Amino acid sequence: MEKIGIIGVGNMGESIIKALLKKGVKKETITFSEIKKERARAIQKGFGIKGSKKLSELVTGADYIILAVKPQDSRTVLSEIAPLLDLSKIVITIMAGVTTSNILSVVGKPIKIVKAMPNICVKVGEGVIGIAHNKIVKKEEIKKVKDIFEPLGKVVDVGEELMDAVTALGGSGPAFFLLFLEAMIDAGLKIGIPREKAKIISSQVIKGTLRMLEEEGIHPAVMRDMITSPGGTTISGIAVLEEKAFKGIVIEAIEKASKRAKELSL
Ligand SMILES: NC(=O)c1ccc[n+]([C@@H]2O[C@H](COP(=O)([O-])OP(=O)(O)OC[C@H]3O[C@@H](n4cnc5c(N)ncnc54)[C@H](OP(=O)(O)O)[C@@H]3O)[C@@H](O)[C@H]2O)c1
Repeated sequence: MEKIGIIGVGNMGESIIKALLKKGVKKETITFSEIKKERARAIQKGFGIKGSKKLSELVTGADYIILAVKPQDSRTVLSEIAPLLDLSKIVITIMAGVTTSNILSVVGKPIKIVKAMPNICVKVGEGVIGIAHNKIVKKEEIKKVKDIFEPLGKVVDVGEELMDAVTALGGSGPAFFLLFLEAMIDAGLKIGIPREKAKIISSQVIKGTLRMLEEEGIHPAVMRDMITSPGGTTISGIAVLEEKAFKGIVIEAIEKASKRAKELSL
């Protein structure tokens, strides 16, 4: 059975461990390394998985190595593990802004790399994880990487050239959407609905809409048509959003976020 080693068990590393165990992955197949001793002890005790004191021990024993340290720690970690990496191992990086070529330039030899970009919602198992890989990663190895991340949410295989776009749409996406949710709650207040009730209504509207789209397998525009009747309330509101170029604003915001992700990853 393949072994998974996680380097750096902060927010993300812990979410990955939780998801793997929830999916039924055997504890003996997971190992981790965490620089903060107290945190390492808590992870070992809390999840019953073994920590490696040395990175070399972790890398030697693992087939899939997940790099979950902060981007600024990547060089130190990669330089230390580079001599132990070979084509029998898959390095999975979740570090924002660290490209496969950044990694290859530190490691200095060909290795199999998968770049995975999770968003914050992985914490509740409803995340989006964009993945990209270099050419030498085999199909069955990509499948295994997808299996690792699948309990954390939806895994979308994209080329590395689209990773910045995925960071903008999937990574920053929740913030844009939350701004819309806040606006709905404020609108509820403006038209006289108490704050808590406005929050319940607005949240349920979004939850129910997404559930219906998924269950009925329809396009958003089709569902929107269903509730937009001639001379009705919905079209009065939509006319205002269209007049203010709501869609254009959203597109521009996400395009800007994507450009910023590209700048940060250079
Ligand atoms: N959080 C998110 O929503 C999110 C989303 C997408 C991608 N990411 C990426 O995921 C990575 C981890 O993010 P995070 O939020 O989990 O960060 P984090 O909470 O800071 O976790 C990283 C952990 O790694 C430890 N560490 C540092 N150097 C180490 C080493 N040489 N060996 C072992 N452990 C070491 C850190 O200890 P110290 O604190 O002492 O350095 C820390 O406990 C980042 O690269 C980030 O870009 C995060």
